Amino acid sequence: MKFFIDTANLDQIKEANDLGILDGVTTNPSLMAKEGIKGEAAVLKHYVDICNIVDGDVSAEVIATTYNEMIAEGEKLAALHENIVVKIPMIKDGIKAIKYLTSKGIRTNCTLVFSSGQAILAAKAGATYISPFVGRLDDISFDGIQLIAEISQIFAVQGYQTQILAASIRNPVHIVKSAQVGAHVITSPLNSILALLKHPLTDSGLAQFLADHAKNNA
Ligand code: G3P
Repeated sequence: MKFFIDTANLDQIKEANDLGILDGVTTNPSLMAKEGIKGEAAVLKHYVDICNIVDGDVSAEVIATTYNEMIAEGEKLAALHENIVVKIPMIKDGIKAIKYLTSKGIRTNCTLVFSSGQAILAAKAGATYISPFVGRLDDISFDGIQLIAEISQIFAVQGYQTQILAASIRNPVHIVKSAQVGAHVITSPLNSILALLKHPLTDSGLAQFLADHAKNNA
C-alpha cells in the first residue's frame, strides 16, 4: 500500500518525505487555503514546489465544475509537472472530464467518493485513482472502512485497474484498516502517519535496553 500525505504544508511534506516512506501528496482547495496560498499563479507555483520535494504522484484539484472548464484546467495542471494527477470531483461533468483526460494520457483522481456506485462510474471512466472519504463517512455514522472493503471487492471481481485511495484519514487505525481491506493507497495527515510509530512497550523496552547497556558498561 502506498502512503500519500494529505496536506499542502511544505514543512510537513518534507518531514514525511525524509522518513523515506512517502509515495505522493494529495491536496484540495481547503488545504491550499489553510496554507494561505491564493491566486492562480501562487497555486500553480505551490504545486511545482511540492513536486520538487516528493518523487511521486501529486494530486492537484480543479476548481471548475463544468466539462469544458474542467478539461482546460486539468490540462493546465497536468502540464506543470509529469507527477501531477488531476483531481476531479465526482459529478456528471467530472466523469466526462475523467474520460477525456484519460484518453489524452492525463492521470486523474476522482474525489468526493462516498458510495460504491460512484466508485464504479469513476473506474469505468478510467480514473487512475478514486478517493473514498473514510472519516467524513464515519462522521455521519456510516462505516468508511466498510466502503473501502466493498469497493476493493468489486474492483477485484471486475478487474478494474483504478486504484483505491483511502482519503479523509483521521487516525492510525484508519490506515491499518485501509491496508487490511485492500486500499492501494492511503492519504493521511502527518500526525496519523507518525502515530503508527507509537507503542508504549517499544518505549519502555528501549529504555530498559539502554539502561542495561549503561549498567553493563559503567
Ligand atoms: O483527501 C481528502 C481529505 O483531505 C479530506 O479530509 O479530514 O477534510 O475529511 P477531511
